[in-house]
Order: sequence, then C-alpha cells, then structure tokens
Amino acid sequence: MAGFAGADLAMAVTSAGGLGFIGAFNDMPNVAQSLDRVEQNLERYDGVLPIGVGFLTFVLKSEAVMPILSKYRPAVVWLFASQELDDYAEWARLIRAATPQSQVWIQLGSVAAALQVAQRARPDAICVQGSDAGGHGFEQSAGIISLLPEVGDALAAAGLNVPLLASGGMADGRGAAAALALGAQGVVMGTRFLAASETNMHREYRKAILAAREGGVNTIRAKLFDELRGPNMWPKLYDGRSIVMASWNDHLSGMSIEEIRRLHAEAVKVEDRGFAADGKGRAAIWAGTGVGLVKEEQAAAEIAEQVRNEAVAVLAKTRSML
Ligand SMILES: Cc1cc2nc3c(=O)[nH]c(=O)nc-3n(C[C@H](O)[C@H](O)[C@H](O)COP(=O)(O)O)c2cc1C
Repeated sequence: MAGFAGADLAMAVTSAGGLGFIGAFNDMPNVAQSLDRVEQNLERYDGVLPIGVGFLTFVLKSEAVMPILSKYRPAVVWLFASQELDDYAEWARLIRAATPQSQVWIQLGSVAAALQVAQRARPDAICVQGSDAGGHGFEQSAGIISLLPEVGDALAAAGLNVPLLASGGMADGRGAAAALALGAQGVVMGTRFLAASETNMHREYRKAILAAREGGVNTIRAKLFDELRGPNMWPKLYDGRSIVMASWNDHLSGMSIEEIRRLHAEAVKVEDRGFAADGKGRAAIWAGTGVGLVKEEQAAAEIAEQVRNEAVAVLAKTRSML
C-alpha cells in the first residue's frame, strides 16, 4: 500500500508471524530510509530482510530501484501495475541479478494475465487479486472465490507450478480460511490493515474506514478516482476501488470532469483533506468491499494474530461439519 505501508507496519506484521510489506511510490530515498530502519531493527533470515517491498512498476524506472534492492535484499519484491504485462519479465530478470535470494511476487487480476506472466516472468508466486480488493486492480476481474481456483487450474493445465496468494475481500479469519480452502498458500490483506495504528494515514481517512459499512454499496470500482487530480496515469487495464463519495455522486449526476476536479482541488486543501466520513468527502478513500468488517483501530500485530487464530478456529469448525 504505497504511501500507507511503511517500516513500522511492515516490521509489526513480520514480528507477529506474517510477512509485512513496505509500499513504495516514487520516492526512492524514502524507501531506502524505511529499509534502513528495518535493517536496524530486524535480523536477516537466510540473508534477506524479513519483509517485502512493493513497487508500482508503471511509475518507476528499474535503474532507480535495483541499487536499493541489491543493498537491502528484502525477502520479497512485489510488482504491480506494469504498463504492459510483458514488462514484468525484464523486472524479474533485473531483480534476480540484483538480489538472487529475494523472491519476486506479482499481483494480477485475470486468468490470462496469470498465464502470460507465469510463462514469461517466472515469478516465485502470483498474488491473484479479486475484484473486491481495495485500491487498484484489474478493471475486468472476478471475485476471488471463482478467480483463484480458475487461475490455479489454468496454471496446472499449462504445467506451471506457481504458488498462489489470494487478495481482495479477506478482512478477517473467516475470509482468510476461505482463501486457503480455495487453494491459496497465503492471504494478502490491505483494507483490514487500514485500521492498524502503524499504517500511515490522515486521521480522517481512518475515521472514514472505521465508519464505513456494507462495502458492496458504499465502495465502487471506477477510473474516475484516478482522474480527480488530472489525466489518469494508470495503465489501461486498471481502475480502483474507493469509498463512494461526493465526486462519484456528482459524476453519476452528470457533472463535468472539469467541475469535479475543481471541487476536489478545493476540498483537499481543507483540514480533513477531502476524507470526510459517510461519503461526504471528495477525495478517493481506497478501500475494499470488506471495509464493513473493519470496525476498530488495532495494533497491526493484534490484527495478524486475531486473523490467524480465527482462521485456525474456522477451519477446525468447518472440518467438524463434514
Ligand atoms: C489503501 C490501499 C492502497 C493500495 N496500494 C497498493 C499499492 O501501492 N500496490 C499494490 O500492489 N497494491 C496496492 N493495493 C492493493 C493491495 O495490494 C491488495 O490487492 C488489496 O488491498 C487486497 O484487498 P483488500 O483491500 O480487500 O484486503 C492497495 C490497497 C489499498 C486498500
């Protein structure tokens, strides 16, 4: 979660037995600083820092990233949103040359993309992202419950043995257990960690997350959210899921994009930065459909532990029903 997930969140999740990630945008000195903090605080495991770093490949030049990777060698390098799917192959090649012990994980949202990227980039894992996910994802996708097994079947049929992680809509241990039952080897959670105290965010953003209920009604996927500040920079495959707010409602009522942008620019100048709860703000509040299950601020470690314990209990209970 670029801009949200820094060293504190990543270290807390890893220390609680998960794998924490730092989300990078385009500020590489800041990424290096975060990795430096991890280096000071956590011991390396098999030569790698026990955290991952996520890169949005469409905004970055690989030359800016590789020196940081070879210096810090994180356990996982996560790639998302290449301009073209085939760009991942070159990224993976460069990452492996820079830091051979690190794994390359790529997040994708369709069967065809998973097949293409598995063949060309040979990632160590694919994160299959369903349409319930918060933030950006494939505009044309499906819920994880059908997407993950279809990706698994297609890869197996093509003789490609790639571990899968599931993302999109899992906000507690019940969702995590379901994802494991679908064949995922791990569960990726974003929206739930927007409630973590260690996540970097404006307090009004967190308030809006904790207040939101019924993600199927109060969040929506759209490209509009990437057009609020100017032309959309995202590759064409992507849109994003945000809480429904005034900019979206005005768009539905037929307001021009110029006027929506003007009102948005004014809204982000005030104290709440346009993040007012209950859909009253004008800024995008990236969140998945699971947002209705996210009700209180908690330490990241507590979230990780609670989700794991709940998943274990749910799987045991489910087994007893068979
Ligand atoms: C606030 C927010 C920011 C995100 N930023 C990124 C990002 O920078 N890179 C990325 O690969 N995915 C990003 N995602 C998507 C996550 O990787 C993941 O797919 C998603 O959070 C999983 O679904 P969930 O939100 O329902 O847990 C973001 C998600 C959220 C909620």
